[in-house]
Amino acid sequence: MTYLDNAATTFPKPRTVHDAASTFMQTLGANPGRGGHRLAAGASRMVEATRLALARFVNAGSTPERVVFAHNGTDALNMAIKGLVHAWHRDGRTHVVPHVVTSVLEHNSVSRPLEQLAADGVIALTRVDCDADGYLSPGVVAAAMTPATRLVALTHCSNVLGTVQPIAEIGAKVRERGGDAVFLVDAAQTIGVEPIDVEAAQVDVLAFPGHKALMGYPGTGGLYVAPRVELAPWREGGTGGDSKHPVQPGEYPHRLEGGTHNTIGIASLKAGLGFIAATGLDAIRQHETRLVSRLLDGLAAVPGVTIHGPRTAQRRVATVAFSVKGYASQDVGAILDTSFDIAVRPGLHCAPYCHQAIGTYPDGAVRASLGYFTTDADVDALADAIAQVAAAS
Ligand code: ALA
Repeated sequence: MTYLDNAATTFPKPRTVHDAASTFMQTLGANPGRGGHRLAAGASRMVEATRLALARFVNAGSTPERVVFAHNGTDALNMAIKGLVHAWHRDGRTHVVPHVVTSVLEHNSVSRPLEQLAADGVIALTRVDCDADGYLSPGVVAAAMTPATRLVALTHCSNVLGTVQPIAEIGAKVRERGGDAVFLVDAAQTIGVEPIDVEAAQVDVLAFPGHKALMGYPGTGGLYVAPRVELAPWREGGTGGDSKHPVQPGEYPHRLEGGTHNTIGIASLKAGLGFIAATGLDAIRQHETRLVSRLLDGLAAVPGVTIHGPRTAQRRVATVAFSVKGYASQDVGAILDTSFDIAVRPGLHCAPYCHQAIGTYPDGAVRASLGYFTTDADVDALADAIAQVAAAS
């Protein structure tokens, strides 16, 4: 099967990832922090080494305890959004309804919790538009902010269009305009393929999955929380220590890490980070940029194909959404699967506002997302298949 659904999760994973996960479970599979024995201590060392590697990866190496593990990107985003709301209520400054700015490009993991909070009257929500190519303007984001804005929650990259947003420019504007407004970035589609520097971009909270370009297993993810941000625990429970505390301990990372860790996943994530370090982020990025350029050229040459979003390989990841004249997106996905052995993701991609913005709602579009293990032959197979499908309409 030609796997072109890496934006959903990367597949295959590097061999070293499987080896590390298997070795961990067979040699150190105890519960980190739960018991002083050597196996638990060894498991703790693995977890802390992964935490430090993640912190360094996003330039937060001086505060690794501020990187907490989550079960996926959605979990991390819920920890962030609901943890902020809870903290606002605790500090008692909610006589003015807190205002939140978000965008049309968000995945449901951002837009659904925010929509629910708005429906419950807990926040006031503004959703800014993107430009015709699928980029957010720092000026438009800043203009949407009001004196009541407490949160700006944006994706680093559209999971439909692949457009990478100018988060450093947006971060500077948020800080300039916003006083104590928190800048939350969803890095689901960029971490592991685009450089991320939370200090340079003035990102206050960064949420990410571990199972996409970081190459870890499903069930992994994380959240970086800058020291200036007050985040209440969203998931409370055992932390392995401090049981004299009747409530969740205040210090990081325990504050946000109730419950047993996904240690097999964290071991896989550590190996995924090792794979990226050994391969080089630049090399990964260059490979994907070259391939997405090839795919864009291949699709643009097919009569009846409309590419959504930018036609060039700059300022984007290797995710391309397109439509084929005369076909519903789900039908194209099914034909590619059953007749051509090609895996893509059709539909709305859990990003309905994005599809509304680009005019593909409610049918959606076909999304091909390439990864480090995608080859020229894979890209050509998709372009050839789409040419045959389009010609048959
Ligand atoms: N959020 C993932 C995607 O875009 C699952 O496919």
